[in-house]
Amino acid sequence: MIGNGKIKVVIIDDSIDTVKHIKTLLEFNEKTIQVVGAAYGGKDGVKLCQKLKPDIVLMDVNMPDMDGLTATNHITSTLPDIGVIIMSVQSENEYLKKAMFAGAREYLIKPFSSDELVSAITKTYEVQNKRKHNIRLVDQVIQTKVITVFSTKGGVGKTTISTNLAVALARNTKKRVCLLDLDLQFGDVAVMMNLLVKNTIYDLVKDINNLDSDLVNDYLTIHFSGVNVLPAPIKPEYAEFIDSKHVERILNLLNGNFHYVIIDVPAAFQDIVFAALDNSEKILVVSTLDLPAIKNVKVGLNIMENLKYKEKINIVVNKANEQYGVNHSEFEETVGYPIWESIPEDSNTVVTSANKGIPFVMSRVDTKVARSVFRIANKLYNNDDSPVVEKRALWKVFQF
Ligand SMILES: Nc1ncnc2c1ncn2[C@@H]1O[C@H](COP(=O)(O)OP(=O)(O)OP(=O)(O)O)[C@@H](O)[C@H]1O
Ligand SMILES: [Mg+2]
Repeated sequence: MIGNGKIKVVIIDDSIDTVKHIKTLLEFNEKTIQVVGAAYGGKDGVKLCQKLKPDIVLMDVNMPDMDGLTATNHITSTLPDIGVIIMSVQSENEYLKKAMFAGAREYLIKPFSSDELVSAITKTYEVQNKRKHNIRLVDQVIQTKVITVFSTKGGVGKTTISTNLAVALARNTKKRVCLLDLDLQFGDVAVMMNLLVKNTIYDLVKDINNLDSDLVNDYLTIHFSGVNVLPAPIKPEYAEFIDSKHVERILNLLNGNFHYVIIDVPAAFQDIVFAALDNSEKILVVSTLDLPAIKNVKVGLNIMENLKYKEKINIVVNKANEQYGVNHSEFEETVGYPIWESIPEDSNTVVTSANKGIPFVMSRVDTKVARSVFRIANKLYNNDDSPVVEKRALWKVFQF
């Protein structure tokens, strides 16, 4: 920002017409944004940035001498205070992905409106500014425990368990808990928790090169239980922008910031799931007591053993109802693992809670299903050597 309080912008685009057009779009906002210079090629653009040190650079992708991504890389690695916004045409999905890796903060699809342009500049500037001035709030070192709720069978209750477990931990232990929805295509954590989502993992990944463990908090949505949630993308197609490296980076950013990171994953062995499993201290493998689930889970467990996850595995049986034929000991014999915890079937409680968007560990604390989730929270917490303090009386407020 210059002395006059305006955001300094440099435009780098080989089309004179585009530069003119952008200047015109920004004229309406001359009180807050000022175009301080323009360059018509990547090389000149980098030099201009070194000289003018703008707040924001609007960068074209295809330019003859040095392309926009290389120029972005130069700028973000040597002048980290500058926020680069890539301007690209619609079909260039691959470019968008590369732009993120080059260090761009935002991208605009051409043609864009004045509102979109101003909003991208303002948002990028704010994030950039916070990054510069943010002072670490938490000085103490927090040991982070990462727990993934996994299954090789869909629909067994992973999301139900991860959301309720996160809430049980946050409410009972007063520790900082983050819930990460890595079911990137069809994640429903936000729905189950009735969250008003502003940012998702997709937004975080777009900005990932410029984030630190303080700024990452801005991308989390706080549930009224105190759990910090990083929801799955709003559209399934955004999943392709997120890979295992991003997941590792996100877990690094959360490390030291939260006592517990609970991860909900899809029922599949995908790279992002492996990233979660690799970085987890415990893996809760969920199964139901029906044969298709047991068969799948057994196969999954064999694969996980080969991948050296055995020590981390704890089996959770959900919707446990022995009257349908398979009992607990038969299950244990078949899969070769002891049942660590068993959660009863209770459609009334579970489905009503999901539909109301209030986790049952808040609204129906005295049900068996809630108690079994508290037991899981207790077991996880008790590894920390201190008892869980239950605040049941308070929770009654949320009964329905
Ligand atoms: N203990 C339970 N008793 C009764 N119903 C349950 C129980 N746990 C989960 N359900 C129901 O089972 C369905 C699937 O649950 P959930 O979405 O949590 O599973 P999931 O493993 O996350 O599924 P997906 O693989 O699709 O992500 C939901 O309708 C949920 O309400
Ligand atoms: Mg799910």
